[in-house]
Amino acid sequence: MKLGIPKERVAGEARVAMTPEIAKKLIAGGLEVLLERAAGEAAHYGDAAYEEAGVKLTDTAGALGCNIVAKVRKPSADEVAAMRDGSVLVSHAETCDDADPVIAAMQQRDIKVIAVERIPRISRAQSMDALSSQSNIAGYRAVIEAASHFGRFMPLMMTSAGSAKPARVVILGAGVAGLQAIATARRLGGDVYGYDVRPETREQIASLGAKPIELDIGEAAAGEGGYAKELSEEGKAKQQALLADELAKAHIIITTALIPCRPAPVLITEAVVERMREGSVIVDLAAANGGNCPLTEADQVVTRHGVILVGHTNFPAMMPSDASAFYAKNIVNLLDIMLDKSVDGVSLKDLDADEITQAAQLRPTA
Ligand SMILES: NC(=O)c1ccc[n+]([C@@H]2O[C@H](COP(=O)([O-])OP(=O)(O)OC[C@H]3O[C@@H](n4cnc5c(N)ncnc54)[C@H](O)[C@@H]3O)[C@@H](O)[C@H]2O)c1
Repeated sequence: MKLGIPKERVAGEARVAMTPEIAKKLIAGGLEVLLERAAGEAAHYGDAAYEEAGVKLTDTAGALGCNIVAKVRKPSADEVAAMRDGSVLVSHAETCDDADPVIAAMQQRDIKVIAVERIPRISRAQSMDALSSQSNIAGYRAVIEAASHFGRFMPLMMTSAGSAKPARVVILGAGVAGLQAIATARRLGGDVYGYDVRPETREQIASLGAKPIELDIGEAAAGEGGYAKELSEEGKAKQQALLADELAKAHIIITTALIPCRPAPVLITEAVVERMREGSVIVDLAAANGGNCPLTEADQVVTRHGVILVGHTNFPAMMPSDASAFYAKNIVNLLDIMLDKSVDGVSLKDLDADEITQAAQLRPTA
């Protein structure tokens, strides 16, 4: 059974789906691992390290033509054309549209797609949860980016040349990325506040040493599977109004609020940005989904009304070594439930037999 690891081709993508260390374990377990030459280079994993681990180096077609292909990003139509009929792809599917043409092209050729975004958020699947592993990195990196764009100290600083007060940092959305951002901003000494529309997050925010912001929006926002659901138009307006004073006082806002497969909610209006102090920083982790602030520009850093807005859309790729190592670990844990290992070799199990692979599999639309 061959596992192929192609080089990622999406612009700015520095991650790779496998590291030498993790490949070595898979090879010991009976899999043959083939990697496209230089696939790990941007993540600082050189070909020599893979070869030493027992990985076979190959070209694009060789990596895509395996029984199982592991990728970080959704393949292009050309990549799909090079895949083998009846193979299995494990990757981000990056679509909410089951009729997506690239996905449909795979389904027509019986290529099964395990979309890592659809892995259920249950305890058993935690070690396979790529959304969490990558969001964690994004939350950390967002604070580092904020600190580097902020022309002031984050912690309380007392020196013979003067002192600085701690920066007031507000984290919006306390999911995986938001909670990591809170923890990181606390470690850097910020005066940290946290807010989420799901009331159960208050305790989590406080347990990390931040101050929960409490608002009475007058409606419940807990949706399915622990995710938030979209507020009514009235609820959205109320939330924006109640948040405005808290946000206007912030030096740094890290905003992470998302609703699966919906545009990101607007939490920071232009009027709030106008009220913020000059040199304040907003890092908008929802930039790829329209942004939690309408002034955010995806993949750009812009200054509006004196406030610096950071709109990077791929924070994990800014830390490619750890992001790849965590992702590869998620993949190997997923493969563990997908494969049968016996003295005769490795074979693929029925992907519908396990609730995790069953839920994560994309199905052809009727
Ligand atoms: N295996 C597990 O048990 C597991 C693993 C990871 C996450 N989870 C849970 O999954 C859920 C989703 O986490 P995620 O990080 O993927 O979330 P996400 O990336 O979908 O959204 C980020 C956060 O934004 C919040 N949000 C949405 N709309 C908002 C609004 N209008 N105002 C303020 N905040 C808003 C959400 O409540 C969420 O906390 C959470 O309940 C998390 O605890 C469970």
